[in-house]
Amino acid sequence: MTTAKRLAQFGETVFATWSRIAIENDAINLGQGFPDFDAPDFVKEAAIRAIRDGENQYSRSAGHPLLVESIADTFEIPVNPMDEVTVTCGSTETISNAILGLVNPGDEVIVIEPFYDSYLACLSIAGAIPKIITLHAPDFTLNENELREAFSETTKMIIINSPHNPTGRVFSRDELSLVAELAIQHDAIVLSDEVYDKLVLTGTHIPIATLPEMKERTITLRSLGKVFSVTGWKIGWAVAPSKFTMAIRHAHQFTTFCAATPLQVAAASALRAPKSYFLQYTTEYRQRRDLLVEGLLRVGFNVQSPEGTYFILADHTPFGFEDDISFCHHLAQKCKVVGIPPTAFYCQSNEGKGLVRFAFCKSILTLKTAVERLQALC
Ligand SMILES: Cc1ncc(COP(=O)(O)O)c(C=O)c1O
Repeated sequence: MTTAKRLAQFGETVFATWSRIAIENDAINLGQGFPDFDAPDFVKEAAIRAIRDGENQYSRSAGHPLLVESIADTFEIPVNPMDEVTVTCGSTETISNAILGLVNPGDEVIVIEPFYDSYLACLSIAGAIPKIITLHAPDFTLNENELREAFSETTKMIIINSPHNPTGRVFSRDELSLVAELAIQHDAIVLSDEVYDKLVLTGTHIPIATLPEMKERTITLRSLGKVFSVTGWKIGWAVAPSKFTMAIRHAHQFTTFCAATPLQVAAASALRAPKSYFLQYTTEYRQRRDLLVEGLLRVGFNVQSPEGTYFILADHTPFGFEDDISFCHHLAQKCKVVGIPPTAFYCQSNEGKGLVRFAFCKSILTLKTAVERLQALC
């Protein structure tokens, strides 16, 4: 074993493993969350234009001026583009920068499971102590007692994610107010992962930074990839008060220095897309969600329709498999459909064993074919 101890326990990410299994089995990949349809032309053209216009050298490390201005102009509360916005190579890098820049070895960080898998790996690299609480199936709401108990004098940060991958929950104002109350009481930083902020299909997304007294303790993460179907561009950003922004930038300058310049310029104009673009985007995603939810229910899964994101966390226990991994292997081999076994997103609870995550960021044809193939489970 040559991998350093701080990372050895994490192995290959579940997304790489199951995308490979999808290829090996010639299966429809409803595992990793990337669209199987192309990005809109106006976004692609903006990138091509930026390359032609000579935007091809390193940008300002904290982000191209055009992009940080677009981010600040479209953020829900007033922020200073030069001091409070940092552009990174996807929000995966922001997560890493925020943790490496702000968390010391031995600091406690509250993480809510099921979680996006990079949180724990970054905490391990930083030598932090994760305190895990669980969103329990089937409604996946925040448990007030568990959350109160997780906070202590040594809590440095809490990582929240809403709209939430993989449950599809959009946290309510009450849940967010509880997080805010406890963060203020314990003087903790809130790292708010909002990469699916535009993918709210039922209800409303409330950025926690907009709650009273929260702007000064919140780092908000957003990503271009989901909302413009350009996950491969890896453009993300953090909006945070300048004291946190400085720390994030300290880490960012030594990780990647800057994100791809022409893609930042294209992102700057994409973010200024008319409201109609975002409305059509959510309308199309609602159709995809409803098609897959109805299909899964017909086949026999227990499913709650997700309020946000492009993921469905379905209960596979009616089919009688031992756990999520054996179920997902069966799906790939017998039905030629790949889902993600969600135990990879849990650390302390066994609840993931009875679940499977499907991504519906796929064309209607792909989703219809997947549902037909899943009939083999009946
Ligand atoms: C909850 C969550 N956070 C962060 C990311 C990373 O986003 P990016 O592609 O911008 O690095 C993802 C990607 O799937 C995600 O689901």
